[in-house]
Formats: sequence, C-alpha cells, structure tokens
Amino acid sequence: MFGRVKPLDAILATAEKKSLHRSLGAFQLTMLGVGAVIGTGIFVLTAEAAQKAGPGMLISFIIAGFVCAVAALCYAEMASMVPVSGSAYTYSYAVMGELVAWMVGWALILEYAVAAGAVSVGWSGYVVGLIENAFHIDIPDMLVRGPYDGGMVNLPAMLIAGLVTWLLVIGTKESATVNAVLVAIKITALTLFVILSVPVMKMEHFEPFAPMGFAGIGGAAASIFFAYVGFDAVSTAAEETKNPQRNMPIGLIGSLAICTVFYLLVSSGVIGSVGAQPVMDAAGKAFEPGSRELSHACSAINDQAVVCSKEALAWTLRQIGWPQIGNLVGLAAGLALPSVILMMMFGQTRIFFVMSRDGLLPEAFSRIHPKYNTPHFITILTGVFVALFSAFFPVGLLANISNSGTLFAFAAVSVAVMVIRKKDPTRHRPFRTPALFLTAPLSFLGCAYLFYSLDVKSQMLFAIWGAIGLVVYYSYSRSRSYVGRGIIDVHEDDAGAPDLPVPPLPGME
Ligand code: ALA
Repeated sequence: MFGRVKPLDAILATAEKKSLHRSLGAFQLTMLGVGAVIGTGIFVLTAEAAQKAGPGMLISFIIAGFVCAVAALCYAEMASMVPVSGSAYTYSYAVMGELVAWMVGWALILEYAVAAGAVSVGWSGYVVGLIENAFHIDIPDMLVRGPYDGGMVNLPAMLIAGLVTWLLVIGTKESATVNAVLVAIKITALTLFVILSVPVMKMEHFEPFAPMGFAGIGGAAASIFFAYVGFDAVSTAAEETKNPQRNMPIGLIGSLAICTVFYLLVSSGVIGSVGAQPVMDAAGKAFEPGSRELSHACSAINDQAVVCSKEALAWTLRQIGWPQIGNLVGLAAGLALPSVILMMMFGQTRIFFVMSRDGLLPEAFSRIHPKYNTPHFITILTGVFVALFSAFFPVGLLANISNSGTLFAFAAVSVAVMVIRKKDPTRHRPFRTPALFLTAPLSFLGCAYLFYSLDVKSQMLFAIWGAIGLVVYYSYSRSRSYVGRGIIDVHEDDAGAPDLPVPPLPGME
C-alpha cells in the first residue's frame, strides 16, 4: 500500500533546478503568515464560537492555537527539507507513498477551496452590514444569505469569489507592499476594537463561563481552528528563506503568537462588552450555529445577541456606542478579506497543478494560459466551485468542513516527519522540529481531538469526500500516475504557477 513513493531526490532535483533566490527574512515570513491567517475566523466565527461555548471560547482559542503551533513545528521541518511546491501532498508522497499523498491532496481541496468559500461568505456579511449601516439601505436577506441562513442565495459572496478568480487568472500576485498594507489594516482594526471594547468590559459577562461544558469548548475549538489556518503558507516559502533554521520557526511561531494574542484580546472584548452567551431553546440546549432554528430564534429577539451577527466585531462596536468605528472595521474586513481568499484559492490551484503534473489528475489541470502564464483552466474550475459553496452554505459549516480536511493534512504531516526522521536520519534538515517525538505525537493527537470535536455533519461530509477520493484514485489516478508508470519527472521549471502569492519586499534582502 505504501509502495509507490516518489523519491525525495527527484523531488529535490525539481527544487534545485528552480533555485529560487533566498531573500525572505523572519519579518517578511511573519507578515506573510499574519496576512494569510487573520480573516473570517476572528471577524466572523467569533459569533459561532460564542454560540457553542459562551465565554469559554477563550479556552477554545488557546486549544486551537496550541494544536496549530505543534503542527507548525512539524511543517517547518518538512518544509525546510522538502522545499518544493505542494506542501503536505508533496511531503506525504515522498514519505508515505502515493495513496496517502492522494488522500492528503484530496483533503487539501477541502482545506483550500472550501475555506475560500467560507471567507467569501464572511466577507459578504461585513460588506452587507457596512452598506446597510453606512447608507441606511435594507438589502433583502434572500439575496445575501444562503438557504440555511434564512435566505436563498448569497450573491455578494459569489461576486467576490468571481472577482478573485479573475485576478488569479490574469496572474495577479499580491505585491509584498499590498500584503503589508492589508496586514496593517487588519491589525489596526483589531487594535481599535480592543481599545474601545476592553474599557467597557463587565466581569459578570464572563459568567457562566462554560454554559455548554467542556464539550462546548471543544466544539468551539474545532470551529475556531479555522482562524489559525493559513500559516502553512509560511512553510511553503522555505525555499526562499534566508537561514531557514532560524527564520522559519520565527515566522511560523511568530505569526501564530501574534494572532493568538489578538484573538484572545478581541474575543475578551466581545465577551466582556456585550456578553457572549449562546441562544438556547426552552430546554437549555444551544441552537446549532448556521441553522434555520438559530436564524428563527435570532429573529425572535431582533438579532440582539452577538451570536446572531454576521459581522460580530462591527456589531459589537455599534452596540457599545461606536457606530462609525463599527463601519470602519467593516470596511477593513471588506478590504482585507479578499487577500485571504486569494491566498486560499492560489493554494488550491497550486495543489491541483502539482497533482496533475504527477499524472494523478487530468493534464488539463496543469494547462497554462499562453498570455497570462497562469493555470487558468483549473483556476476557473476552482472559482466556480468556490462561488457555488459560498452562494448556498453558511460560513460555519464551510469552515468546519475545511477544518476537517486541514486536520487530516496536518495529522499526515505529523506522521510523515517522524517516519522520515527514522528512515533517513542523516539527510540535511535546515530546520529540526524541537523534541520531535513529543511534538509530532502531540500534534497528531491534537488534530484527532479537534476532528472528533467537529460537528457530525462535517465529519460525515469528510468521510463521504474521502470515499469519493478513493473511488477516483482507483478508477482513474492509479493507472495514470507517472510514478506508477515508472516515469519520474524532473521538471525544468514550475511552469507558470508562481511560488508565493506574495513576493518578497524589494530591497529587504
Ligand atoms: N485563517 C483564515 C481566516 O480566518 C483562513 O479567514
């Protein structure tokens, strides 16, 4: 079963031919991480987490951040040793063989494409709230929410997914300056939120701290895990990093640490200022986030609870008497979230591209546009699916499904890094995971725990997705695989698909 391994040396030869310039330092890596990480998770899913855990969501943020930190350390070793495109898929191919790699690649479709859908829905919530509040226009829910959320179709989410697809097709790379500006906008918005909300905190809002018990806290951690996803973008930059032994862990752990501090401060601000107790039925059971039942219960109380809001941070600011700043935070989200969608969709096309180049997916997937030099076919196909997900599904469900795929990929990397330490201990590792045989099992168990804490619907969808993946593999990919057919390809270049959505800052070498 583990027989078809793509030799590491062949993979590395690809990287050598590409020989990217090592220009990224710790600071740029951290910026890259923060740029990819802060998004819908904190801006929108805070409300979902509150509905699941109440104030106990603070613990949820810590649990999810911890699992990400140990997974990030495992990623860093693999990324520095196998510094080529394809992330977890490529690592698995080299270490655990084609079938595992295929399943990881298949799961990464959930991580990236479905996450792009979730962030599109999050963007829509903020932009609609901004238009309604700033211009006093009432936009019918039917057109701006999916059918599970009290509407019919989420048109703004489709629109942003389409726009980002178009930018990717014409080969837009976000310049490092644009990334830096967007990071600054996000950090400013969150800082303003903290400055305005913390002084009006009331300690009684933290009581009861965990109305749904530890199961609620675990469930919220599994959802809020989404808020940390994206740091793997940092590990894919290993090849372009100066002194990766030092800079890679600083970039990975640094960006996670910055995000964790902000997340804890912001969620404390939400809880303390407006309260974050779940909306429950008569029997004291919290409604499921993103469900029709919650939507109805919220209508009954005129949406007067943060858990009912699609734009939790802006809503909170309006409640505590800062409507204009609330609108500004909405504007910040409106400006900054598209770059998170761009990074996610970029990651998706990259994975498809590499899988197609290995023969596991149709050749059309790696077809390059003659003028724009981008993998346009697969970008458009991805865009269509992202638009459809975001049109019809609620943000929380999309985030949870995306998390299921990400957790699977993280778990696979945690195993891969241990296997290769044993199998190939002398290979050069620019970065070594500290206390690997403690860190990697913790990462694996943490991922398993969060997966177990996901809602049953997302777990079922993951299982169905995995089963479809197996059928596709055995009926299509297995017989076409280049490795299976004995063709071990060393590519001259990485035709068209750029390595990083954010190139290094000029003059910062
Ligand atoms: N971490 C990213 C977000 O929260 C995916 O939007």
